[in-house]
Amino acid sequence: MNSQLLNGQFPYLQSGQVYADWTGAALPPVSLIDEWSDHLRNILLGNPHSGHEPSLRAAEEIEAAREAVLQFLNADPKEYEVIFTSGATEAIRLLEHYNFGVGGQLLLTADNHNSINGLRETAKRSGAIFTYAPIKGVGEGLVLDTQELTRLLNYPRSRYGNRLFAYPAKSNYSGNLHSLHWVDYAHRRGWDVLLDAAAFLANDQLDLSQVKPDFVPISFYKLFGFPTGVGALVIHRRMFTKLHKKWFTGGPIMLVSVQRDFFVPDARGATRYEDGSPNFGMIGAVKNGLDFLNSLGGDRKAHAVAIANDVWDILYETKENSNAQIIIHTPRGNDIIAFSVVKDGKIINPGLFEKMTSDRGFFVRVGCFCNPGVNEKIHGYSVDEVIPRATDEVIFGLEEIKRRRQYFARTAVGSIRASFGYSNSTIDVIRISGHMKNILREI
Ligand SMILES: Cc1ncc(COP(=O)(O)O)c(C=O)c1O
Repeated sequence: MNSQLLNGQFPYLQSGQVYADWTGAALPPVSLIDEWSDHLRNILLGNPHSGHEPSLRAAEEIEAAREAVLQFLNADPKEYEVIFTSGATEAIRLLEHYNFGVGGQLLLTADNHNSINGLRETAKRSGAIFTYAPIKGVGEGLVLDTQELTRLLNYPRSRYGNRLFAYPAKSNYSGNLHSLHWVDYAHRRGWDVLLDAAAFLANDQLDLSQVKPDFVPISFYKLFGFPTGVGALVIHRRMFTKLHKKWFTGGPIMLVSVQRDFFVPDARGATRYEDGSPNFGMIGAVKNGLDFLNSLGGDRKAHAVAIANDVWDILYETKENSNAQIIIHTPRGNDIIAFSVVKDGKIINPGLFEKMTSDRGFFVRVGCFCNPGVNEKIHGYSVDEVIPRATDEVIFGLEEIKRRRQYFARTAVGSIRASFGYSNSTIDVIRISGHMKNILREI
């Protein structure tokens, strides 16, 4: 990695602060922010749905950014298109238009972000069934249960139904990379595949000339921090026949009147799914961000993992000699470490740890990270006390919901996640070591 390009790039980090929430968001290099604010100061951009010069310029910038995204992913424009969204979640939500047909199926891995888990509601509304492929326990590295996944992917297909398999290329909880060979394996059994690359692309490279998922959601702030509020659904063109758009909005529409219940949507691929006005002030900056990442060089992952390994070792050693203990849940060798602090046999509420670290300028994430499947596996708790079965006919009032949420608070189910990227250095490792020793003494 060309670390010279990182000199002076994070002036907003105050002296001594350690940022270890890379899976939450990448730190934006200040050069990207400066470059773009200069650009906006000098160039007038208009709503690309108009036809004047500033509007055409904005449209050109958006097209250049589309091209840059495809290039970054080594995707053939004859195969793939880029739909710009506000982030990965909105990209995933576009699957609201996925046509499950009759007897459709949705297969999810238990290791998934809630923005993917929520697709089960879309499936249910479409009359499709959903199933989870389990993951293995902490002792076995929180990996996918490949035997069970193989069985589920070989489940017979209904003649008129479509089926969708959705899994993350990288777990946002454990940092595990899930094999990309499942994309092809699932295709050969008639599944369409959504490969969630939101966490993956922070430090890893996806080559769409080698692996060809049908849908790839992305949030760009997770790659280079700036701009926020821009994401994309990279979509294989063959999927346009499987998306049946459920509504129309301003923007992608060719013919409509209020006198008749009739409209003709924009016939073009990607733009048909960009509802309303795109984020034309910021989408162009995605190209600069991708250029920045390209100039950093290809070993960003090795850098992040080297830092994470040093921190993993410190946590492991600290665990042996303090009044509170650390339990590391995730394997060494990832760019994410999830762990818990235990005292007198009980897990310390991760919220307390977050407060103690944040007060010291050491920023980590705590909780379940919107990934309840991995959290449930690690902490092994039962949800029977809190969440009714689908067959129970219950309507909870607000007070009852609050009472049930207390269960989670009492049992402190959730972990501490430290994740790393290009902004981290060995000085961070030394600082983290000091913070951990002090916190464990005080806790
Ligand atoms: C694996 C994964 N998928 C999806 C998302 C959702 O991304 P966003 O919140 O940017 O829409 C995240 C965010 O953390 C994630 O880590």
